[in-house]
Order: sequence, then C-alpha cells, then structure tokens
Amino acid sequence: DLGDFEHYMLKEIFEQPQTLENAMRGRIDEDEATAKFGGLNLSAQQLRNIDRVVLTACGTSWHSGLVGEYLLEEFARIPTEVEYASELRYRNPPISNDTMIFAITQSGETADTLAAMRECKRKGHPTLAICNVVGSSIAREADGGIYLHAGPEVGVASTKAFTSQVMVMIQLALFLGRMRHLSYPAGRRIIDAIQKIPDQIQKCLECNDLIKDISNKYCNFNNFLYLGRLYNFPGALEGALKLKEISYIHAEGYPAAEMKHGPIALVDEETPSVFVVPRGQIYPKVMSNLEEVKARKGPVIAIACEGDKKIADIADDVIYVPDVEDFLQPLVTAIPLQLLSYHIAVLRGCNVDRPRNLAKSVTVE
Ligand code: M6R
Repeated sequence: DLGDFEHYMLKEIFEQPQTLENAMRGRIDEDEATAKFGGLNLSAQQLRNIDRVVLTACGTSWHSGLVGEYLLEEFARIPTEVEYASELRYRNPPISNDTMIFAITQSGETADTLAAMRECKRKGHPTLAICNVVGSSIAREADGGIYLHAGPEVGVASTKAFTSQVMVMIQLALFLGRMRHLSYPAGRRIIDAIQKIPDQIQKCLECNDLIKDISNKYCNFNNFLYLGRLYNFPGALEGALKLKEISYIHAEGYPAAEMKHGPIALVDEETPSVFVVPRGQIYPKVMSNLEEVKARKGPVIAIACEGDKKIADIADDVIYVPDVEDFLQPLVTAIPLQLLSYHIAVLRGCNVDRPRNLAKSVTVE
C-alpha cells in the first residue's frame, strides 16, 4: 500500500525514523551500556574468542559491511574484512578458527551471498546472518543472526534496509566492544547517541523539498562523482550506486583524497561532485579536496552539518544534516543521498521502483 506516496522508494525512505527505531527495539541494555541479541546462538566465551570477522555481501549490503568494518575495528578492535560474496565463494582465503562470518543481506535470497555462506559453513566456520526477510534461505541456513525488522522493502533500490543494517552493525560493534576494551562510559555515550537517531532522521527528511529543487538543477548531467572519507566513504559509494541504478546516470564513489590519483581528470563544468562532508575528525582535509574540485570548475553539492556556514560560500548547493558523531554520519547522510537520486530519477522519467535490468533479489549467479 503506497498511501500518499507516489513510489515505494519514497515511502520506504520516509519510513526510516520508524525502521531505525525497530532495529534498536529490545536490543539496548542501558544498565550494562551494551546491546543484546536474541539469536546469535553463541556462548559468551565463543563471542569473546572471536579474533577476526569476515563480512560478506553484495551491492548496498556490501556498503553497509564497509561501515561495519570501520565500526568493529574502532569499537571492538577486531580485525575485519569485507568480501564481495561473488568473490569469496570462489576464493580460498585462509580463515582462522576464531573467525566469525557474517552474511549481510536484505532479501536473504541473493545467490552469491548464499553460496559464499555455504562455502564457509562447509569448511566448518560458524556463519551468522544480518537479514531482513524472516525465514529466507540465508536466515534459515545461518547458524544464527540478527534481523533488521525493517518490514518489506519493495523498491528495487535498497534504502531502509541499508540504514537498518548500519544500525545493527553499530549495536554489534558496541556489544563486541563491551566484551573487550570499550568502557562503560564509552558504551553509554554510544547508546545516548544512537537513541537520538530516529528524530535526527526525521529532521533530514524535512529537506525533501530543497532536494527536489536541487535535483531540478542537476538532473540533466550525465556523470557524477561522490566523495567522502572515513565513515563517509562507504556512504559515497552507496550514494553513487543509488544514482546509477535508478536514474541510469554514470556515477562513481571514491574516498575523497583518492581523487587526485586519477578521477580528478574527470572534473569539469559538466561533472558535478557530491561531497559528503559533515564536520568530524578530518573535516578540513575533505574541505581541501572540495576546494580542489571547485578550482577545476566542478559543480559541488555538499552534504554538510547544520551550522556549517563556511561551506555555503564554497559549494554550489548545500544540504544540511544534524551534527552527529562520526560513526553515525552514514545514517544521517544516507537520507539526502537517497532523496537526491530519487528526485533525479523521477525528473528523468525513470521507473524508480523497477529500474531496467534489475531484480529485487538477485537469485542467479
Ligand atoms: O538482498 P540483498 O541485500 O542480498 O541484495 C544485495 C544487492 O543485490 C542489493 O543491495 C542491490 O545492490 C540493491 N538493488 C541496491 O540498491
């Protein structure tokens, strides 16, 4: 049921304050400053012994895995790798006994993710799923896991599943971190910050009209760059994927500083760059990357923090998001990135819910 919305994608974008709430429900343990999960099916000792994590997924779910890598390494100090499931299934990487494998998937039916998971299981490794669809093949075959509780995602472009996956990864990193080096006050700070997220996402949605206007200005360009650093690098990849899959515009995501090693050659008046540049650890560095693009006459759309006045003088267009901790930036910046690709695709007359050549679950190899 679409309600007042024109497309499922838009409806699902607007559901995110609620779906993020659902991803947290019953999982926050304020007294112990940690998260808890009902279905991991592992003893505290097994969880404590994990010395490496492999996250495997495809597409958008792979992007949330990248955010997960940064989180698990920062909060839990567990070495983590993110593998494309289509590669992992045929590679033969050494995997130690205490490595935990997580398959991340909205549908739970992606053929490559299922095959990668089966291959790891066949070798005797415990495999867990981070999945949305209850009772799906991957959910059933995994040794345990965590559901997203995001409700059905109909639009082919993944939106609410992405933010829920990130929210689950934050809680997982908090949980594993609190079994290791993360202190009680540090755990409390993370909890306080994530509890504010649903309201902050609501605030991001208020930019919808502004983003529609900005989309009008940019919908006829044929090449885009998406740039961000640290937690915003996966966000940039995800923004670019969202634009290309529903608007058929060529878009590339890069870590912003990597630009000078090649992609900057693409920058001209006809190639807009979307900079994901909220204030944080390396804000000044990203700003200097942004200035390099402006110096080459590249149009810039910046996704920045509320109150950042300086950026309005440099970027051509600015979309403001609430000022949050670095690790929460992929959540608040996802909203404008999703809305930007949605409006551009609609203005170009594309079928946003069912883009050409794509299926909601990729059940073939
Ligand atoms: O259902 P899954 O999360 O396993 O799907 C993986 C990808 O096929 C999926 O994320 C795809 O990239 C989306 N259409 C992106 O919006």
